[in-house]
Amino acid sequence: MNLAIIGAQWGDEGKGKIVDLLAPHFDVVTRYQGGHNAGHTVIIRRGGVDQKFVLHLIPSGITHPGKTCVIGNGVVVDPQALLNEVDSLRAQGIEVNHRNLLISNRAHLILPYHVALDRAIEAGRGGAAVGTTMRGIGPAYEDKMARRGLRAGDLTDPATLTEKLSHNAKQANRLIAMLGGDLINEKQLIEDGHRWSQLVAPHICDTTYFLNNAARGGKSLLLEGAQATMLDIDHGTYPFVTSSNSSIGGAITGTGLPPSQINCAIGVIKAYTTRVGGGPFPTELNDAMGEHIRARGGEYGASTGRPRRTGWFDAVVARYAVMVNGLDALALTKLDVLDDLDEIKICVAYRIGGRETDQIPYDANQMSEAEPVYETMPGWKEKTVGVSRFEDLPEKARNYIARLAELSSAPFAFISTGAERNETIIETEVLSGCGIRLAV
Ligand code: IMP
Repeated sequence: MNLAIIGAQWGDEGKGKIVDLLAPHFDVVTRYQGGHNAGHTVIIRRGGVDQKFVLHLIPSGITHPGKTCVIGNGVVVDPQALLNEVDSLRAQGIEVNHRNLLISNRAHLILPYHVALDRAIEAGRGGAAVGTTMRGIGPAYEDKMARRGLRAGDLTDPATLTEKLSHNAKQANRLIAMLGGDLINEKQLIEDGHRWSQLVAPHICDTTYFLNNAARGGKSLLLEGAQATMLDIDHGTYPFVTSSNSSIGGAITGTGLPPSQINCAIGVIKAYTTRVGGGPFPTELNDAMGEHIRARGGEYGASTGRPRRTGWFDAVVARYAVMVNGLDALALTKLDVLDDLDEIKICVAYRIGGRETDQIPYDANQMSEAEPVYETMPGWKEKTVGVSRFEDLPEKARNYIARLAELSSAPFAFISTGAERNETIIETEVLSGCGIRLAV
């Protein structure tokens, strides 16, 4: 039984928590796209105290002993960021070794010149900046598509590494100079490259065979998406997107698993909407309500600390995510953030150029003009933090959730009411409808 977890909005939906909840029930946890632009926060109670883990590149399953975590071929890996993350996990008492962390030899590398290019390109965009995380993600994927990237496998061949790094550094510096960015030091890069090679090489292998053999051998795989459907390079609000396929397609191309090996997909969605960086956001609240949601929800980027833009739940986005990914179910997160509101709005359609539509326009300019058509529901004005049974939720909260499910055209398998593992309502019937049986 293999399951993909996918962001259903613009990211930061709380995928880390859902993956963390599910991880004990799977043998292998795999990231398949994106890089350390992601920030998956997991809170675990250990020895009576809450321990917070912010994972950027390593699958959230790493905090569970006995699981194999895989960084698939579709991920872009910054070796230094990877090593920093390994160090900080070890400092928090988490075991990371070449048996529980495997990295695809086909995964492309993010190198310092990609970061310099990301900065220079964003600066050149001025007011039309994408608002990237400045982690070098776009330039690294550009190199991959242009067939000039270095891959993790190159770190296992020190004999050719110097030549490849030297060639790419020279080419990149020409481009960086043209864009007025900060040139990188070729000698330093080569030195760093050989250090990374020693430290990272033990983790590098052919994960395509590993994953397929595991799946064929009856092991269960959890595929952990990063970013989200509306940030997908093809299906999101282009050009205000990330540079990978963060919807279901990425789970195939980014692992080497065939579609028949993905038995179920669950989308993670917040009870409201957030977005970081530029680009259209029809239900955005630029007012006191938006600020209230940001403050209550702690809506600041896990990777960059940037304040997130906030807005009402957008059912047009939810339905689109269900359609594009074929989501079998949804996981609703951060319900408790809405606890003290008198009224809650849900966007059910857009009005664009005077016409109502229930579809996402392909063009970001049109999407920017979309006026949300709202339905208003009464708030429940009661605490839901920590509620773990659906029937214990206030009736108005249950009605809100039922309406979201109806408008999204998918049932909720999880409703998260707090950051901790046990602050979750698990709808076992919905899960077993997806073929997932959790021994809870
Ligand atoms: P990049 O992925 O750094 O190139 O950034 C492209 C866009 O995706 C920007 O708007 C980022 O804010 C957004 N983005 C990238 N990663 C995440 C994430 O993990 N959560 C939310 N937004 C993200």
